Amino acid sequence: MFISFEGIDGSGKSTQLNLLREWLEQLGRNVITIREPGATLLSESIREILLSTKQSITPTAELLLFSAARTQLVERVIEPALTAGSIILCDRYVDSTTAYQGFGRGLNMDQVAEISRIATRGVMPELTFFIDVRYEQAQQRMQFAEGAAEPDRMERAGGEFFNRVRDGYLAIAEAEPKRFVVIDGYRDRDAIHRDILSVVEKRLQAP
Ligand code: ADP
Ligand code: TYD
Repeated sequence: MFISFEGIDGSGKSTQLNLLREWLEQLGRNVITIREPGATLLSESIREILLSTKQSITPTAELLLFSAARTQLVERVIEPALTAGSIILCDRYVDSTTAYQGFGRGLNMDQVAEISRIATRGVMPELTFFIDVRYEQAQQRMQFAEGAAEPDRMERAGGEFFNRVRDGYLAIAEAEPKRFVVIDGYRDRDAIHRDILSVVEKRLQAP
């Protein structure tokens, strides 16, 4: 089973991914958690380039770099783990590209979709949880986060950019309501976790 978590930066995705991982591990499930971009040496190197504030990157170069990091991850980690029957929890996946590079940067949506199809090799999550909060709330959460760092290159894109990204996620939710589950991110961690569990439990029981 492959589950991804989406949301704007600071929405609380990683928190929910970890709560779900703990719950699944207590059930004795074999769980693999990964983050995007990352989880392979190449993808972590590309991540450094993408998030560094030292250089500017054109939107198309950004799209191709995120996609290169993804395809290495799919082939080297996700496909083998799915074959082995593990549960994969991924902090971001291809919907981030649709939302950030497509809606946020305004790249041609057909091109984004085509490159994403190549990068994922057709591998899609069975479930995606979108933790929905607005930019202002996410900013506040990031400011007060433990060990809060300076904003990275993506986080410097500003409020209007993140509003477009959020609209992009909501558009995906409309297009794919079965896979893409919108979760009200304004509530406390446990309430959100319970919502997520109720969906996951049903999927685990499904034949
Ligand atoms: P993301 O992975 O989406 O960037 P995190 O899970 O790292 O977000 O959360 C960002 C910050 O917000 C962290 O300090 C985290 O402890 C806090 N946080 C997460 N979920 C909630 C919540 N439901 N309510 C309040 N704060 C939260
Ligand atoms: P990360 O620190 O993992 O995200 P978060 O702050 O939510 O924990 O940083 C990844 C950044 O890259 C984040 O700003 C989202 C962005 N991103 C894209 O623009 N496109 C993509 O395809 C992916 C995977 C991430």
